[in-house]
Amino acid sequence: MASRFNSLTSLLSLISCLFLFLSYFHGTKAQSTPPIVKGLSWSFYDSSCPKLESIVRKQLQKVFKDDIGQAAGLLRLHFHDCFVQGCDGSVLLDGSASGPSEKQAIPNLTLRLEAFKIIDDLRRRVHKDCGRVVSCSDITALAARDAVYLTGGPDYDVPLGRRDGLSFATQNATLANLVPPSASANTILTSLATKNFDATDVVALSGAHTIGISHCTSFTDRLYPNQDPTMDKTFANNLKNVCPTKDSNSTTVTDIRSPNKFDNKYYVDLMNRQGLFTSDQDLYTNSRTRGIITSFAVNETLFFERFVIAMIKMGQLNVLTGTTGEIRANCSVRNSDNSFLSSVVEEELTVLSQL
Ligand code: HEM
Ligand SMILES: *[C@@H]1O[C@H](CO)[C@@H](O)[C@H](O)[C@H]1NC(C)=O
Ligand SMILES: *[C@@H]1O[C@H](CO)[C@@H](O)[C@H](O)[C@H]1NC(C)=O
Ligand SMILES: *[C@@H]1O[C@H](CO)[C@@H](O)[C@H](O)[C@H]1NC(C)=O
Ligand SMILES: *[C@@H]1O[C@H](CO)[C@@H](O)[C@H](O)[C@H]1NC(C)=O
Ligand SMILES: *[C@@H]1O[C@H](CO)[C@@H](O)[C@H](O)[C@H]1NC(C)=O
Repeated sequence: MASRFNSLTSLLSLISCLFLFLSYFHGTKAQSTPPIVKGLSWSFYDSSCPKLESIVRKQLQKVFKDDIGQAAGLLRLHFHDCFVQGCDGSVLLDGSASGPSEKQAIPNLTLRLEAFKIIDDLRRRVHKDCGRVVSCSDITALAARDAVYLTGGPDYDVPLGRRDGLSFATQNATLANLVPPSASANTILTSLATKNFDATDVVALSGAHTIGISHCTSFTDRLYPNQDPTMDKTFANNLKNVCPTKDSNSTTVTDIRSPNKFDNKYYVDLMNRQGLFTSDQDLYTNSRTRGIITSFAVNETLFFERFVIAMIKMGQLNVLTGTTGEIRANCSVRNSDNSFLSSVVEEELTVLSQL
């Protein structure tokens, strides 16, 4: 009796040790997190698709090994998804104003075509392993997280359980929800406040420009006809070489110090008047955000901490959960428009009618 009691207590203490051990590692990822919305959860696919996160991470490791630039494309895709009618995968749909078909795409918003392909390839791998249980919007959120982590940024847990929307993002909705790169800090602060982001969130999210590239047309209004006086002279001259005219179609990096590394150098750029867009540089001119820039430039840990909080917030904008929306079988089409799915349904109906 006594020995059975002993083994029970040692089993219990072993379990609690294991629990402490696990929660320690969990705790080193995301220190403080904003509240999560109803319907999302930290463990949503734990039983229905336990390998989800490792499938996504392993595949993206391979993708980024070939081309690290794809990380920035995936991070921006999640941002555009969430800001325009919520993180519902609407940006992925054919017909969306910045979607993969590009027929109606707004040129100055163009997302990388490869990003759409990478998401649907991840979707195919995940569905092969688990069946059609994981949404395209959740895969996009995980891909953005891994884009950050695999380029040197913080790792963090992503609340999951989003479902995919049934309507795509129109040009009007897209333009109304994404501020242009010519926007002032005041415009951005006002616009993002409507989505419940404060000044710290705005500065932290803009720090995503620590990786990636931009087309000339997104910033040549700062070079021609007149040079923006807030831009460093040497930096401006170099940009003029890359973009000899206002509508040149080359590209350049958004963080000149470390374009492929997710770090706090973007804020150092801003302090040196080497921000690429007005929407970046004006955050340093504006007295409401200047101090936040400096604090991130001198303390990368602080930037990472605030970035994670802002990303988790962004990743929960107007999500569909529960029985709303759907789990798409192909990220670029709604299930009702999916000719493969409809033919499967037709075949099933035919089989049924023959019984
Ligand atoms: C706050 C207002 C923002 C503005 C005005 C803005 C504007 C832009 C513009 C104009 C580009 C270049 C597009 C091109 O010409 O190819 C760009 C690139 C990028 N943006 Fe933003 N952005 C903003 C916020 C964000 C946020 C919140 C994120 C993510 C959390 C983000 C992530 C990125 C990334 C990663 C790239 C590089 C994309 C690539 O290399 O393909 N941006 N942004
Ligand atoms: C889009 O916006 C424009 C200008 O604001 C407006 O004239 C047009 O009617 C809108 N279109 C739709 C479909 O809402
Ligand atoms: C994109 O360019 C069009 C036409 O030049 C302009 O009307 C629109 O405001 C721009 N949008 C953004 C988000 O920069
Ligand atoms: C500009 O872009 C078009 C199509 O994207 C391409 O065919 C052309 O070569 C580019 N021009 C220059 C000067 O890079
Ligand atoms: C940097 O920020 C972290 C996170 O907020 C904080 O714990 C740390 O004390 C800061 N370091 C310095 C040198 O201020
Ligand atoms: C997904 O749908 C698009 C648009 O209809 C189609 O081009 C693509 O081949 C489909 N992908 C798969 C894997 O079926």
